[in-house]
Amino acid sequence: MCASRRNFLKNGAAGLAGVLAYPQFGLSQSYPNLATQTSPVSATDEKFWQQVRAQFPLNKNSIYLNNGTMGPSPYPVIDAVHKGMMEGDVNGAYGGWENTQAALAKFVGANENEIALTRNVTDGINIVCWGLPFKRGDEVIMSTHEHVGNAFPWLTRQRIDGIVVKAVNPSQTAEQTLANVKAAYTKKTKAIALPHIPCTQGQIFPVKEICEWAKSMGLYAFIDGAHGPGMMPLDLHDMGCDAYASCSHKWMLGPKGTGFLYVKKEFQNTLQAKFVGGGSDNAKWNMASQPIQTGDYADSAHRYYGGSQSLGLYKGVEAAIQFIETIGLQSIYERIAYLGKYTQDQLLSCGNKIELLTPTEDRSRIAINGFRIKGVDFNAFYKTCAENKIRIRVVQENGLNSLRVSTHIYNNTQEVDAFIALVKKAIG
Ligand SMILES: Cc1ncc(COP(=O)(O)O)c(C=O)c1O
Repeated sequence: MCASRRNFLKNGAAGLAGVLAYPQFGLSQSYPNLATQTSPVSATDEKFWQQVRAQFPLNKNSIYLNNGTMGPSPYPVIDAVHKGMMEGDVNGAYGGWENTQAALAKFVGANENEIALTRNVTDGINIVCWGLPFKRGDEVIMSTHEHVGNAFPWLTRQRIDGIVVKAVNPSQTAEQTLANVKAAYTKKTKAIALPHIPCTQGQIFPVKEICEWAKSMGLYAFIDGAHGPGMMPLDLHDMGCDAYASCSHKWMLGPKGTGFLYVKKEFQNTLQAKFVGGGSDNAKWNMASQPIQTGDYADSAHRYYGGSQSLGLYKGVEAAIQFIETIGLQSIYERIAYLGKYTQDQLLSCGNKIELLTPTEDRSRIAINGFRIKGVDFNAFYKTCAENKIRIRVVQENGLNSLRVSTHIYNNTQEVDAFIALVKKAIG
């Protein structure tokens, strides 16, 4: 009997949600159905979270603690990408990704006409960085914990257009971080371009308060939201930023190479669209008329992107949102916060050789922990983890030379314990 038939019988027709055959990866060929949760799930309901884990093709012989870099997709997302691609390849379907804007908008508390589809966070950051009307000497407040994807566009604009980038230190409390941002203000400040959650040690910046202050000072408020969507419920209107760049391939567990940029409707006439094409216009241009008609921009965030997109990838984004909703975003948020705190507590229990870089304040921490081990080279410890099939990340950005561990819903406390055992061994 073939393996897929055996699996089919084992799971029973009713429990089988799909069959994906990737024998070259040694992956199970079927995935069980995950019922839609009609009430909140406890963060410690291990039986339920094990069912969630079974939705992921993640290798069972290794431990993945690096969601901050890339969120592995569950089967339903991979399945949707596959089917979306088949739509194009079998039926010649074109378009269809427009629906994704509406789904993303609802997911992050925005309107459909405020969402631009991008490939990644970097695309969104560049659209904002290059579209803002700066003049030489204008200052932008950033942080000392930027990812290259936020740092380098602004540093390049500094090099080309003479803006001045300033970097403030995040602090252990949200209150102090806000104070540090405010302290960097001068009469020349024109914008803030800060992370919601930096990639380095994962602290949650007090973005609502920062944006409120920035707007009260007449500044443009841009947030690098690489980490946020899929991690916690979001309401971008309530956050008050002018623009927020994110992706679906981290905490939303969506297909790789899918991102989105939120641009507040009222801000769209301030943020100049520069990378334009089919869809970013209002269909009123005509090169053959005399004089040439230039047309204008689409009356939505579509003005910031043009051209063909991948139906398969965006079907995958919709499936990722659907997957999150099957479990419940609030329950996911609580599970993520529980595992993040568990990891942090375990690190702290290792004693004073651990230098924790992430705040312990509840409102400032969630799923990513940054740390150093005194007397242990960060690269050497990363290698030890890799040799033991545990994937974490080194943080060389901004000279931090530290380590980062991030946990999502497919992880559990035993996996964290296995990682902590290596930390304890390294301490000696
Ligand atoms: C804070 C932050 N900003 C920007 C990026 C760049 O994201 P992307 O690779 O999707 O462009 C990352 C990626 O890890 C990040 O962590």
